[in-house]
Amino acid sequence: MINQIIKIVKLLGFKNAVRMKKHHEQGLAYVRGFTAGYCWWALLNEGILDKLEQESLFNWSGYLDSYPGDREVLEAIVEYLAGVGLLERQGARLQLSEQGKVLMAEPRGLLELLWAYEPCFANLGALLRGEKKYGREVTRRITFVGSGSGRLCEQLPYPVMRRMVQGLGVKMVLDLGCGDMAFLTGLCQQDDSIRCLGIDNDAEMIAYDQKLLGENDYSGRLLAQQADMFNLPALRADLPPVDCITACDTFHEYLQNPDQLIEFFQRLKQRFAGVRFVIGEFCLQDAAWLKKHKTATLEHHLFHQLSGQQIGSAQTWRGIFQKASLEIIEEQVYDIIGHGYFALK
Ligand SMILES: C[S@@+](CC[C@H](N)C(=O)[O-])C[C@H]1O[C@@H](n2cnc3c(N)ncnc32)[C@H](O)[C@@H]1O
Repeated sequence: MINQIIKIVKLLGFKNAVRMKKHHEQGLAYVRGFTAGYCWWALLNEGILDKLEQESLFNWSGYLDSYPGDREVLEAIVEYLAGVGLLERQGARLQLSEQGKVLMAEPRGLLELLWAYEPCFANLGALLRGEKKYGREVTRRITFVGSGSGRLCEQLPYPVMRRMVQGLGVKMVLDLGCGDMAFLTGLCQQDDSIRCLGIDNDAEMIAYDQKLLGENDYSGRLLAQQADMFNLPALRADLPPVDCITACDTFHEYLQNPDQLIEFFQRLKQRFAGVRFVIGEFCLQDAAWLKKHKTATLEHHLFHQLSGQQIGSAQTWRGIFQKASLEIIEEQVYDIIGHGYFALK
């Protein structure tokens, strides 16, 4: 090996050879991120990574023998992920490496969210050339929006919002754009006197929720219904009056028309007398700060821009609430993650 290195250095010159190697390594970071990401998603979506997480001494040979899909493709993916250090193979055993375990922890939601918006990237050329339009030929994968967002929000947004809800002493929560209901599920777990109804306008999302409710509906205290929040139907007659309306990361999808949101909030206030609101929303981060810190917000902004969504500043939200005659009871804005929480009446 050393002789080959000497030969290359003689041929290219030391400085040139070192520069080329460094540049390749820098480029490889992007190539590897893309390749490993796709391979990771393939195993994640097949449930193989969950299996590995649960059974660290997984009988890999036995699994391969009975794998119903293309065994060669599976082996190629596993070999690659082991090569880049996310999996470890030891004889018949396959397990997550320490780095792989990390990816299955906090960043999992981010990876799921990226998978939700992956069709935007797979079709980026066509979107760029105007041959396809988001919402027409290209759409996000809604159940991954729900699970990715739910998983990420469990790390800070939901604990903050649940504390706000509990501080208000409310008993019947209506969650708008409930996604995978993770926010409401946690509320039902924490408080056995609370009842919750989640609505979402996406049929696929609600079908996913109904499946989850089939496993546990917290003795009937947790419900999900398909509905457009702007055309909210009559709610089930056996439900107590809604005294709290919540929404996490739902309203920014309509920020291109703030008047629609203002009028909507006013209508909700009229329909549900004395109702309190607990709202979590993205709050635009300072561009100079973001350039310096380069957090996942950069990718997150891109997903939103490609899918026609806008991010408003905390001040934008305050302005909308004020115009809707909603008074801020409590506010917590975390510039570091670009998220804010508002309890309102
Ligand atoms: C970004 S996701 C947030 C999901 C969830 N609240 C969370 O915290 O993870 C926004 C959700 O709002 C739903 N949504 C968008 N417009 C809606 C509408 N007009 N009525 C009801 N749900 C809506 C979407 O289907 C999606 O599930």
